[in-house]
Amino acid sequence: MVPKIVQFLILLYLFTVTFAFNEEEIALLKWKATFKNQTNSLLASWTQSSNACMDWYGVMCLNGRVSKLDIQGAHVIGTLYDFPFSTLPFLEYVDLSVNNLSGTIPPEISNLTNLVYLDLHTNMISGTIPFQIGSLANLQNINIYDNLLNGFIPASLSNLTNLSILSLYQNNLYGSIPTEIGYLRSLTSLDLGTNSLNGSIPISLGNLTNLSSLFLNGNHISGFIPALLGNLTSLSILYLQENNLSGSTPEEIGYLRSLSQLVLAKNSLSGVIPASLGNLAKNSLSYLDFSTNFLSGSIPTSLGNLNVLYLLSLC
Ligand SMILES: *[C@@H]1O[C@H](CO)[C@@H](O)[C@H](O)[C@H]1NC(C)=O
Ligand SMILES: *[C@@H]1O[C@H](CO)[C@@H](O)[C@H](O)[C@H]1NC(C)=O
Ligand SMILES: *[C@@H]1O[C@H](CO)[C@@H](O)[C@H](O)[C@H]1NC(C)=O
Ligand SMILES: *[C@@H]1O[C@H](CO)[C@@H](O)[C@H](O)[C@H]1NC(C)=O
Ligand SMILES: *[C@@H]1O[C@H](CO)[C@@H](O)[C@H](O)[C@H]1NC(C)=O
Ligand SMILES: *[C@@H]1O[C@H](CO)[C@@H](O)[C@H](O)[C@H]1NC(C)=O
Ligand SMILES: *[C@@H]1O[C@H](CO)[C@@H](O)[C@H](O)[C@H]1NC(C)=O
Ligand SMILES: *[C@@H]1O[C@H](CO)[C@@H](O)[C@H](O)[C@H]1NC(C)=O
Ligand SMILES: *[C@@H]1O[C@H](CO)[C@@H](O)[C@H](O)[C@H]1NC(C)=O
Ligand SMILES: *[C@@H]1O[C@H](CO)[C@@H](O)[C@H](O)[C@H]1NC(C)=O
Repeated sequence: MVPKIVQFLILLYLFTVTFAFNEEEIALLKWKATFKNQTNSLLASWTQSSNACMDWYGVMCLNGRVSKLDIQGAHVIGTLYDFPFSTLPFLEYVDLSVNNLSGTIPPEISNLTNLVYLDLHTNMISGTIPFQIGSLANLQNINIYDNLLNGFIPASLSNLTNLSILSLYQNNLYGSIPTEIGYLRSLTSLDLGTNSLNGSIPISLGNLTNLSSLFLNGNHISGFIPALLGNLTSLSILYLQENNLSGSTPEEIGYLRSLSQLVLAKNSLSGVIPASLGNLAKNSLSYLDFSTNFLSGSIPTSLGNLNVLYLLSLC
């Protein structure tokens, strides 16, 4: 015989879970009601008479609470203004990419305290990246590339010590790259390409020893290439083309044993091609592009060691 108090607690628990869940379902339906495309066949399963956890397109639950929302390419035309940030505290994975979301990212995104994965790429999102994103300490992946974002990259991102991928390319971000990015030691991929960033490359990037790709191409970055980039021993792809980098290419770049693609084209680089490139990047370097710079001197004979090179552009 189960004691009455236990029966009561079980009922209370079930009621609370059901109620909380209904609240999540209703909140998502409210957001859906703001979409411009109401004849959206993919989201037709989102109805009050169905069970969101079991029947809704793109929704997954954990313990009866919405934990994953993946509606990539679902033809959504809308904004994030009515997204139920405060009602979905158990969301870990959000993929709203390849839709037509416009407007800004509300600061309430910080309410998604369990968020690990945030993907908003290929939408029409404008405005600045809210600094409140820096409080989402569990984030491992931020993809907001291919939008209309502007303003500065918030230094608060440096709080995200588990962040592995930060992809902000193809926006209109400006100002300089925050030095604090150097605190993101879990980063494996940093892509800030095709924006309007200026200033110089922070030497703190030399701390990101797990970085395997670094894309800073297509900005207005000036100054020297920091020799400390030679400390990025995991680096496989380094794209710095189409900036206004000057000075000579540091010998240390040739210490990057995993380097496969080095593209420094269309800058104001001078001096010689470091001979170290030929000696230390053997068996990996396949793409080497120094074109459209102000280089001098001769081509180092060591480049002959690059046995897997298939593109070499120097003029
Ligand atoms: C609305 O959604 C449907 C089905 O998902 C899609 O075929 C259609 O192109 C969308 N309409 C617009 C204007 O995007
Ligand atoms: C996005 O939706 C707006 C309407 O809100 C429309 O004017 C625009 O053409 C759409 N853009 C794309 C790329 O579908
Ligand atoms: C939600 O986010 C807003 C903006 O950052 C903040 O003011 C508010 O306190 C947050 N609410 C909760 C419940 O965390
Ligand atoms: C970053 O972390 C510090 C210390 O943990 C905290 O005081 C600060 O509010 C955080 N910044 C943001 C934007 O969350
Ligand atoms: C970062 O990841 C580690 C290992 O997965 C985990 O133990 C830690 O709690 C995470 N830190 C934050 C702030 O989420
Ligand atoms: C970089 O751009 C910002 C904003 O556009 C501007 O205020 C600043 O003066 C620029 N800095 C440099 C070094 O050009
Ligand atoms: C980079 O590492 C150096 C040496 O370990 C340290 O002094 C510096 O504060 C770090 N900078 C950042 C931005 O992490
Ligand atoms: C760097 O990568 C190694 C090997 O994958 C991993 O063990 C380590 O935890 C990573 N460091 C950080 C700070 O993420
Ligand atoms: C960079 O690497 C060199 C040589 O491996 C090392 O002496 C130096 O401390 C490293 N610098 C930083 C900031 O980690
Ligand atoms: C590039 O930098 C040089 C100085 O190093 C400067 O004279 C030149 O005007 C800059 N070019 C552009 C397009 O910003």
